[in-house]
Amino acid sequence: MRITKTLVVFAAVGTLISAYSLASEDKGNAANGKNIFEQGKGAVPACNSCHGATGGGDDSMGTPRLAGQGYAFIVKQLNDFANDKRMDTTMFTMNTNAKGLSEEDRRDVAAYVNSLATPDVASDMNQVKDLGNQVGVRYLGKAIATYGAPDREIPACHSCHGFNGRGAAPIYPRLANQRYVYLVNQLKKWRDGSRANDLMGQMRKVAKNMSDEDIYNVAAFLTSAPLTTVGNSRLPPAAH
Ligand code: HEC
Ligand code: HEC
Repeated sequence: MRITKTLVVFAAVGTLISAYSLASEDKGNAANGKNIFEQGKGAVPACNSCHGATGGGDDSMGTPRLAGQGYAFIVKQLNDFANDKRMDTTMFTMNTNAKGLSEEDRRDVAAYVNSLATPDVASDMNQVKDLGNQVGVRYLGKAIATYGAPDREIPACHSCHGFNGRGAAPIYPRLANQRYVYLVNQLKKWRDGSRANDLMGQMRKVAKNMSDEDIYNVAAFLTSAPLTTVGNSRLPPAAH
């Protein structure tokens, strides 16, 4: 019984991994991606008008950092938007934007944003507060990221997203240095199911038992979570 179950899980994971490696076979043309990012294409506006000149995201617009977010992950998100598997309920723009790009354009722009350097610290918490957002307590969020809250069946973010949420490509995106407002919005969307493009419902299960406070706290930690540890200055391998 147990063996059968394990085999089924292996088979499912194998299928997922091959879906991802197919997506990463074509690495995209970053030069064409740069043009799209800076100038837009046809009716699709320039990505930098909302995601910032260096792809660092913007808390006042609720946009995420795209820089260094991982090629295969960005391609998946753009395809999900294009196929209405993920709905942009923040600005109602990403579904139209992604549909306006060909599949090759999506790979090209993903290659470009993935090549941009990740900023050290994403959100300015004073600005976040001034924008009218509730701000969490960083050290409480660090505990959730590292250990989860087993009494409430919230797993450690660490276990899938890597140390301090620094990402485990190709499936698990980097949360460290992501924009605070974006992190909060996504966690609430996973919780109420309005974002449902996660593999095997993984994130919906994680967010299901999180309170608003848990969400603010973990986002407060992750937005400024260091990617390296004391005594180990090695960065995680580049996200492909
Ligand atoms: C009018 C503003 C706007 C423009 C222009 C725009 N975006 Fe976005 N983008 C957003 C918002 C808002 C979100 C967050 C949606 C949500 O909360 O679900 C987002 C989310 C994304 C995500 C999801 C990232 C993640 O970590 O899951 C990707 C990828 C993305 N945008 C790529 C692009 C690309 C590529 C372009 C240019 C072709 C672009 N965007 C242009 C507003 C914009
Ligand atoms: C069981 C594995 C797993 C665990 C544990 C987990 N996540 Fe995730 N998470 C995922 C997957 C898979 C995705 C990507 C979904 C997709 O393809 O869109 C994701 C995506 C996200 C995103 C969206 C990022 C983006 O750029 O769009 C956020 C935010 C997030 N997770 C936060 C968390 C937090 C906070 C925790 C800890 C409380 C956590 N996750 C724990 C699997 C996990």
